[in-house]
Amino acid sequence: MTVTGSEAPTQLDVAALLPDGAHLIGGEWVPAHGGETIEVCNPATQEVLGRIPRGTAADVDDAVKAAADAFPAWRDTSPGVRAQLLYRFADVCRAHAAELDLLECLEVGHPSWGPSRIADQLIYVAGMADKVTGHTLPTASPNMIGMTLREPYGVVGSIIPWNTPGPLMAADVAPAIAAGNTIVVKPAEDAPLTCLLLGKLALEAGIPPGVVNVVTGYGPEAGAALPLHPLVRRMSFTGSPETGTRVMEACARSLIPLHVELGGKSPQVVLRDADLDKAIPAIVRGITFNTGQVCAAGSRLVVDASLRAPLVEALAEAFSKVRMGPWHERVEMGPLISKKQQDRVLGYIEVGKEQGARLVTGGGKPSGAKFDKGFFVEPTIFDEVRPDMRIAQEEIFGPVLSVLTYEDEEEALAIANGTSYGLVSSIWTSDVGRAVRLARRIEAGQVGINTTWSGGVIGSPHGGYKRSGFGRVMHAETILEYTQLKSVVINGNP
Ligand code: NAI
Ligand code: MG
Repeated sequence: MTVTGSEAPTQLDVAALLPDGAHLIGGEWVPAHGGETIEVCNPATQEVLGRIPRGTAADVDDAVKAAADAFPAWRDTSPGVRAQLLYRFADVCRAHAAELDLLECLEVGHPSWGPSRIADQLIYVAGMADKVTGHTLPTASPNMIGMTLREPYGVVGSIIPWNTPGPLMAADVAPAIAAGNTIVVKPAEDAPLTCLLLGKLALEAGIPPGVVNVVTGYGPEAGAALPLHPLVRRMSFTGSPETGTRVMEACARSLIPLHVELGGKSPQVVLRDADLDKAIPAIVRGITFNTGQVCAAGSRLVVDASLRAPLVEALAEAFSKVRMGPWHERVEMGPLISKKQQDRVLGYIEVGKEQGARLVTGGGKPSGAKFDKGFFVEPTIFDEVRPDMRIAQEEIFGPVLSVLTYEDEEEALAIANGTSYGLVSSIWTSDVGRAVRLARRIEAGQVGINTTWSGGVIGSPHGGYKRSGFGRVMHAETILEYTQLKSVVINGNP
């Protein structure tokens, strides 16, 4: 069926949209060398949506070679033409915005957030393609000219997680190809379809074959081969710290740079003078959005002790009203992506209880026929959480909020900064002075004052402090991360 943005679509003919069991290498849809496939399921129903190739090192090799073949011509394409192609890619993504949204809903299980806004990401980056410049350099002699050039690396590898695959892939692909690199994307095996569709739309937009390649498969089989391939010159990884470490080790062996985004344990710091009516819905959304499967999820509530009891009560009430179910019903929260993630989140809930936190609401699988087949977990609040408990330290990646209290500003900061992560943080206050003080001292790549999210700000850099990773995406300088600096010296009097 055709999907339009005006209705609330629930069906998508995946087989009509994407070839079955094929990934995109050098502009061709091909099966894996081994011929094996992996089923992709709707996590709300376990209905099979389609099959993807179970790619291995041999498929990665084909894709990297295709990207390397496409590189010289793409590098030498005028940056203005690359920009134009990215604008066209944006147009095609806008024309398919409903399908991009729906496909991600189907494979990730989240409710619709409206037509995909990937086009906006592409437009933002397209405008930079022809503005990448070097410098002229001072010289000791008038006979010399010195300058720097910003050049692409060549083939870039990108490993994408399953939580919001479309926007995450666009965040890597757009600056990489705008700068003149070609790219091989390895999507997550749990939600690879949106990435395959984006690859298809890039081709449809006229981006030459081989510039954007998408190789599917399991992490240890396909993903692991990418940073080790001798023709890959730069990597980008988003996912767990464990896998990020493995990818970094591979990059070390290959002696290539990378950027990593490894999640967080983002604090929501609520000061005594906060406007709770505004804070409460944002705090609820901050941990239930995408069922808590967001690197930036506000998973720790760090609250003034005097506010704790009324705030926890109000949050419990709000959590009990979060509508949960298959994404196509009018719900705010879908299932988790997989049985593995459901077991992980339920495991953390057990750990919270064992370590003595007080379960306020949620804490299990919801009951009822419509939840039977999906990987659902109730929105959950733990109160009386101590900073050293595992549910206060480790990324759960589910709808589980840990409530910690403080007595004064110093303690609030110590708790907020007291994990190995440092991705996002929020401060809820009406006191500008305290907001400024805390914003300066919080160790996080992003600080929101009276907001949980940088949404609405164009070009807000996204990335971590500490073990949340390094490198920044989605901002004006991201394109420079996909370039290397060359110094050229001209001697006018040899
Ligand atoms: P993961 O980090 O293992 O998977 C992310 C990507 O890495 C996938 O494409 C996967 O196929 C690939 N991969 C896995 N092993 C690999 C290897 N040895 N070499 C190269 N690539 C490999 O994450 P997973 O297992 O799906 O989720 C576990 C936890 O990771 C989550 O509960 C969450 O805490 C965290 N995570 C964080 C994300 C974020 O946005 N920061 C996204 C996804 C997961
Ligand atoms: Mg894994």
